[in-house]
Amino acid sequence: MATLPFSDQEFKKISSIMYEAAGLSYNDSKKSLIHSRLAPRIQKLGLGGFPEYIAILEDESEAAEFQMAVDLLTTNETYFFREPKHYDLLQEELARLGNRSSIAVWSAASSFGDEAYSTAMLMSDMQVMGKIGPDWSILATDISHRVLLSAKEAVYPEDRLRAVSPERLRRYCLRGDGPSQGQVQLQDKIRSRVQFGQLNLCKPFSGMGPFDVIFLRNVLIYFDPPTKSEVVDRVLAALKPGGLFFLGTAEGRVPCSTPITTVIPGAFRKTA
Ligand SMILES: C[S@@+](CC[C@H](N)C(=O)[O-])C[C@H]1O[C@@H](n2cnc3c(N)ncnc32)[C@H](O)[C@@H]1O
Repeated sequence: MATLPFSDQEFKKISSIMYEAAGLSYNDSKKSLIHSRLAPRIQKLGLGGFPEYIAILEDESEAAEFQMAVDLLTTNETYFFREPKHYDLLQEELARLGNRSSIAVWSAASSFGDEAYSTAMLMSDMQVMGKIGPDWSILATDISHRVLLSAKEAVYPEDRLRAVSPERLRRYCLRGDGPSQGQVQLQDKIRSRVQFGQLNLCKPFSGMGPFDVIFLRNVLIYFDPPTKSEVVDRVLAALKPGGLFFLGTAEGRVPCSTPITTVIPGAFRKTA
């Protein structure tokens, strides 16, 4: 298939559309990445080239295609109990919160829901052991409608649950057979504990929280430094004072105005 031409001007236009709408930031070194992610889509749609695709991205009635472009330009990689030390700390934190009236957790760039459902398994176990009460909730949000639909289905390739203990697999999962072999379906008792919703972290939002714990892991990589700080402050506004805040360990500490202290790598406590 012939390579689709992609001018610097078209690259700048797509970068600016993605930056304005979703905070995704691409410097000049990312031109070939954008080309390689979007050109197959343009060809699949039977369009003439990037100018036609840009027109679609700018057309507000083409929200679904805009979503598709965001999906193609970001990675949704995630898996259950990613960064186990974060879940060890979460368990200590939940035990500390104990049987207080309610506990609220937010997975703020949830992708396919692995992070939220891992948390639900942990919280269910703690409830059964009497370490927390029954009144707990988990909200999972993402910009991508597609990943949210799949998250609600809660069907995963087995490999994504490689860090889930055999006891939890028995307690919370159903293994597929026949044509579903190699897939795992989460049981309703876990699925029903997570609420999913669409949210763009780069736009102002209201009515969120307050949460006791927030995960904002492995999403800031797409944003430039001012957007990272803006998003972190916006998200931290929904965290209770004293609440726990997780970033991806590799993301380091992001400058922000909200006072936080480091607990362990990638985990912070809001101090005021
Ligand atoms: C790599 S996944 C992270 C999943 C999970 N938090 C983890 O650490 O395993 C990044 C997610 O961020 C989402 N995302 C990208 N830009 C976003 C935005 N502006 N607002 C909300 N979510 C966004 C993507 O759709 C993707 O599902």
